[in-house]
Amino acid sequence: MVNYFEIFLYISIFLLSVFSYYVYFKNKKSSSKKKAYKLPPGSMGWPYIGETLQLYSQDPNVFFVNRQRRYGEIFKTKILGCPCVMLASPEAARFVLVNQANLFKPTYPKSKENLIGQSALFFHQGDYHTHLRKLVQASLNPESIRSQIPHIEELSLSALNSWAGGHVVNTYHEMKKYSFEVGILAIFGRLEGHVKDELKENYSIVDKGYNSFPTKLPGSPYRKALQARKRLGKILSEIISERKEKKQLEKGLLSCFLNAKEEKGLLVLNEDQIADNIIGVLFAAQDTTASVLTWILKYLHDNQKLLESVKAEQKVICQSNEQENHGLTWTQTRKMPITNKVVLETLRLASIISFTFREAVADVEYKGYLIPKGWKVMPLFRNIHHNPEFFPDPQKFDPSRFEKDQRVSVFRNYCNLILHYFLPLLVLIRNDITCNKKMGIVPALLGEIA
Ligand code: HEM
Repeated sequence: MVNYFEIFLYISIFLLSVFSYYVYFKNKKSSSKKKAYKLPPGSMGWPYIGETLQLYSQDPNVFFVNRQRRYGEIFKTKILGCPCVMLASPEAARFVLVNQANLFKPTYPKSKENLIGQSALFFHQGDYHTHLRKLVQASLNPESIRSQIPHIEELSLSALNSWAGGHVVNTYHEMKKYSFEVGILAIFGRLEGHVKDELKENYSIVDKGYNSFPTKLPGSPYRKALQARKRLGKILSEIISERKEKKQLEKGLLSCFLNAKEEKGLLVLNEDQIADNIIGVLFAAQDTTASVLTWILKYLHDNQKLLESVKAEQKVICQSNEQENHGLTWTQTRKMPITNKVVLETLRLASIISFTFREAVADVEYKGYLIPKGWKVMPLFRNIHHNPEFFPDPQKFDPSRFEKDQRVSVFRNYCNLILHYFLPLLVLIRNDITCNKKMGIVPALLGEIA
């Protein structure tokens, strides 16, 4: 008689052995793979605190540059208890942020995530992130921006008028106000005055609380910011309902979000997702744009010859528009070679975002080095922008480097992506320069900055 029990036992033993053999060899292979790659060079400093004291006691840029000189373009360190790998080459930045972005997740403190909103694209990876990025990019394509130019011009003239009269202004604060206005226009198109004021008031409370100590104690800036964030959500929800009800056909990011089609199983965005992403984009756009504008003014002030060339370039456009009686056009903004190079060089030299960070979600091999799972990974933009191999005499403000040297074309390509965002900068520079004959603003403004 067939002993089924015995057969079952033999088969089980056989399968178990095959499985154990497989697991044993798989582990052996992966551990030998781990051993094959070494950690990048660098110092992990003291136990737990690592090199935190060194970083905080000196200019962070000096800290990074010194280590890059000592160890090369990939090095390790430990900051605030977190082991980190710093990457100071363009290919490495691309590897982490673009080509292998799925291996590195964004990490932000929960306190900041709560203020912006958990559904904002910065906090996500994968399909949801890609879907949102496409929508943001679509709202900034030339077609969409073209029609906004007269309105942006209006905003910049109004900003210039508000600075007239010889009083002292804080350039960065004024640029923040201006970039907020342009941001609101790019997101909502036209918006009623009182709604805009409410948005502005609450947004500025959130902005103040963003970098404050995240305590919910009554009266603390962080608590006030959380309360203002709730009010912002309500205001945005009202705007969204109204737009849906009236089927208003305004241009801008909100319309792109409202008209988003289902894609790869991603549902049309709900109201919270839209609100979080609107606030997210405002955060991404406002400080960065305001900083670049401020640095452009400073660099032009310090380079009077260059200022004259930019003025001459703008004057030609201005005169032709006066004769033909129309405002600035999209085509003209694409034909400002000197002004454009000034913007690029400012982006490079000021490098307003010095670095960003991600966290490795698995053990990653890069150029023979191991980036262990859980380690922070930091692409160092400023080190790349200030590397003499790519940009000779890197501390010199020299826009002409963008016409002489082919190597810098990489930087131009990288900036082209955000150059559409720079339209407001171009319009403001133009108006600064062309309108000050009447109002005398630019000399006064530049005088204040020096
Ligand atoms: C003007 C100067 C600007 C600079 C130097 C700049 C720089 C950067 C950098 C370095 C990142 C990558 C951060 C990271 O992934 O960790 C980033 C992301 C982003 N920026 Fe900007 N930005 C600027 C302006 C703007 C403006 C005007 C907008 C408005 C639409 C904007 C929207 C975004 C968004 C939505 C992201 C997230 C992209 C993503 O996660 O895929 N930025 N920016």
